Amino acid sequence: MKPRVFVSRHFPGEGIALLKKSCDVRIGVMKGTCPRKKLLQGAKWADAIVTLLTDKVDAEVYDQNPRLKIVANYAVGFDNIDLAEATKRGVLVTNTPGAQTESVAEHAIGLMMVLGKRIREADAFMRAGKYKGWDPDLLLGTEFDGKVCGVIGVGRIGSIFVKFAKALGMSIIYNDVVRSPDIEQKYDAKPVDINTLLKQCDVISIHVPLMPSTRHLINAGHLKLMKKTAFLINTSRGPVIDETALVSALKRRQIGGAGLDVYEFEPKLVPGLAKLDNVVLTPHIASATWEARDSMSRIAAQCVLAAFKGEVPEALVNKDVLQKNPWIKTGA
Ligand code: GLV
Ligand code: GLV
Repeated sequence: MKPRVFVSRHFPGEGIALLKKSCDVRIGVMKGTCPRKKLLQGAKWADAIVTLLTDKVDAEVYDQNPRLKIVANYAVGFDNIDLAEATKRGVLVTNTPGAQTESVAEHAIGLMMVLGKRIREADAFMRAGKYKGWDPDLLLGTEFDGKVCGVIGVGRIGSIFVKFAKALGMSIIYNDVVRSPDIEQKYDAKPVDINTLLKQCDVISIHVPLMPSTRHLINAGHLKLMKKTAFLINTSRGPVIDETALVSALKRRQIGGAGLDVYEFEPKLVPGLAKLDNVVLTPHIASATWEARDSMSRIAAQCVLAAFKGEVPEALVNKDVLQKNPWIKTGA
């Protein structure tokens, strides 16, 4: 019998075709979010499930099926997955690191550019037929060269963002739970505490995973420390910023603007956010490039196939699960 893979929702890229070569694959839904009931049924039937960041994967899911070997999350973030419960049951959890690094860092730069160059307002202005001739006062924006860029979280995505910002002539300071000698050497980036970073920066871009310690990492008090002209960019996870506090800071022009791809109560926005003219909003599409989606798709599939072969998937997140897994070759 072929191994069974349940994919909660169809996604672009070659991964599903790769799985179909050697596995029995069922797709939960072609569009939209997989209903909970379908996800549970899928978990019951399958040896592996491939999930999206919109699927909540918890004890109830694992308990459908003691044979469940692996949950491969089609995302770099895995805050939708209860890792401890997976580990307890010997279920491997994988993500897709590296697949979306450039796409997400480029998107963050894009949000920053749209804010600084006022592209959103300028585009609306043109479409409204308001352009009557060159005007030296029209839509004045910001130059980034020579400004200070603060990066919170310098993992894969954060360090590529640092590289881009440096190429724009910005000087770099960063905050992370671990030092990164690599970006300190390559880009002359200085590690600072979060308050110093918020006070000194013209642009702040967030690249941390969502965990209990990063929930509301940016709160009302932090927003008060920021320069009146500073831009806050978030392409990580919404709950990292207290969005209600952010809306209030933006309303009072306490900060210069915000470029957001993720939201605290996604897909809902905190009331008032979409009315502000000093924000740029995109619908969680920082990793939505053909390149990233294909790579995410292949990595997710390869993780499943590796697990079926009894190998350790490269993108294993809950590494401590290996002690619990008699069927996996730990290589040790
Ligand atoms: C997207 O947000 C991801 O985590 O890959
Ligand atoms: C994700 O790829 C990260 O480590 O930033």
